[in-house]
Amino acid sequence: MNKKIFVSREIFEEVLDFLATHFEVHSNQADAVLTAEELASALSDKEGAMVALTERIDEALLSRCAHLRAVCNIAVGYNNIDLAACNAHGVMATNTPGVLDDTTADFAWTLILATARRLTEAERYLRDGKWKKWELKQLLGLDVHHATLGIMGMGRIGQAVARRALGFDMEVLYHDQSRVAPEIESACRARFVSREELLGKSDIVSLHVPYSPQTHHLMGAQEISLMKKSAILINTARGGVVDDDALVEALRSGVIAGAGLDVFEREPALHPGFKELANVVLSPHIASASRNTRFKMAMKAAENLVAALTTGQPPDLLNPGVNRG
Ligand code: DGY
Repeated sequence: MNKKIFVSREIFEEVLDFLATHFEVHSNQADAVLTAEELASALSDKEGAMVALTERIDEALLSRCAHLRAVCNIAVGYNNIDLAACNAHGVMATNTPGVLDDTTADFAWTLILATARRLTEAERYLRDGKWKKWELKQLLGLDVHHATLGIMGMGRIGQAVARRALGFDMEVLYHDQSRVAPEIESACRARFVSREELLGKSDIVSLHVPYSPQTHHLMGAQEISLMKKSAILINTARGGVVDDDALVEALRSGVIAGAGLDVFEREPALHPGFKELANVVLSPHIASASRNTRFKMAMKAAENLVAALTTGQPPDLLNPGVNRG
């Protein structure tokens, strides 16, 4: 008899078809975000699950899913999954590294350019019928070319953002827990600096760290105050890495010039302060949302699930110490 699996959110038909060649597939194609209770009930008789960052996989859930052996996240970030709880329940957890780096880097650049050149503010001005004449000093922005770009988190996505800066003749600074290999530094023409130096010297600060207790409010009031008054902050990483209250206040009072944000602390809820500010460009967590990349993410999660439940060796296992017996 085929193993039963559950897909917690809507995915592409082709991926469902692929899963159906291996499993008895149950899925939430209606796509309503499930409550913890609904998720526990859907997973109570399943051996595998494909989930998204909208689902919290923790002790409370896993203690109710006696048959569950694998949880495959359709995301590279996995702060929605408690790996210690997965280990305690013998559940393999996987993510989707590698397939979304370039698409996410492209989007970080979309926000860099839109924020620096005040694109959404300019469009609103035009749509609101306010444009009456060309003016020399109209909607003046920040030059991106030859500016200094500071990258916090020099993993695959941070590196992809840095490589794109070469075309803009920028100086690239980066900070991470440790230095990347010298070949990567030279390919990206990036220089390792302290967090303080990065914040103080960059015209654009772009965040590419995973969310964890260590990176919670990595950018709070104190860190934002170290940035230049003319600088902008870009976040395509995770909500919670930035203290949204502190950022709203900094944008309101001119501590920094602007921000481009794809992720939010309480998403999908938006801090009301952002709505009132002209100097912030906002998007609803879509940095990886090209058709090709979202398809690859879903397929990679499905392949991980098939491998987990057939061989016990999923390629993107996050908890290799888990008891797979
Ligand atoms: C990820 O993969 O972590 C993205 O944030 C999902 O869109």
